[in-house]
Amino acid sequence: MKTFKICLERFLILSQHLDKNLFYIGTFHSRKMSSAKINYPAANRNKTPILEVLKKHFDANLKGTVLELASGTGQHVSFFATNFPNLEFQPSETEQSLFESIKAYANDTPTKNVRHPVRIDTSAKDVKDWKLNEYFDYIICVNMIHVSPIECSIGLFKNGSQVLKPGGLIVTYGAYAYKGVIEPQSNIDFDRSIRSQHPDWGLRDIVDLENIANEHGIVLVHKYDLPANNKCLIWKKQR
Ligand SMILES: C[S@@+](CC[C@H](N)C(=O)[O-])C[C@H]1O[C@@H](n2cnc3c(N)ncnc32)[C@H](O)[C@@H]1O
Repeated sequence: MKTFKICLERFLILSQHLDKNLFYIGTFHSRKMSSAKINYPAANRNKTPILEVLKKHFDANLKGTVLELASGTGQHVSFFATNFPNLEFQPSETEQSLFESIKAYANDTPTKNVRHPVRIDTSAKDVKDWKLNEYFDYIICVNMIHVSPIECSIGLFKNGSQVLKPGGLIVTYGAYAYKGVIEPQSNIDFDRSIRSQHPDWGLRDIVDLENIANEHGIVLVHKYDLPANNKCLIWKKQR
């Protein structure tokens, strides 16, 4: 419970910084919905811009599978699944206290193509610890890279490359540095804020992430600028 509260407190700060154009003040989550569903306002705000990017890269006719890492509340996976009824979505989280919310969103997804969540720590040194027995067409990871130690990004690409089909895509979203520069000022403030919460957190440089990804046969193929100075990055497995 303590971990859960800390997670929610951190999200207040994240909500304020991540969607700066839609500055959010007040309670940052709501349990007003009828079930265990948790509502992160930031996830509601960024889900549509992210979906527009997914529509450019996901094959809507493919009877394929999508792994979501760091699913959070389950809002994103349910929304994306509704918009890609042919794909089957596997949410995952490391934080057990979020599972009931993810399950509630999964159960209420009208297209019935969201599985129940599995526990995955992206930082696992061995992909066997992800306990997945299948290969995925796509992996989605929203707003995790900068609020977790670098080992999580390493695991994302290293383990992700081993559960992704050749030619498969990884989609990441969040705030990033590029070639040693963080801009604009709101992202500099955001970086400082998250580092003050945890010294191992912070905006990652896209070039550093490319180096990690390349080691595992994954290349960056597209960069999209999204609202509130966030980016959506499309990574492709080469072999
Ligand atoms: C800022 S929240 C984003 C949640 C969700 N993707 C969203 O955008 O609403 C970061 C999430 O990363 C998860 N996380 C942190 N470290 C992780 C790890 N090592 N493996 C998997 N998930 C992790 C947290 O539990 C949290 O749900």
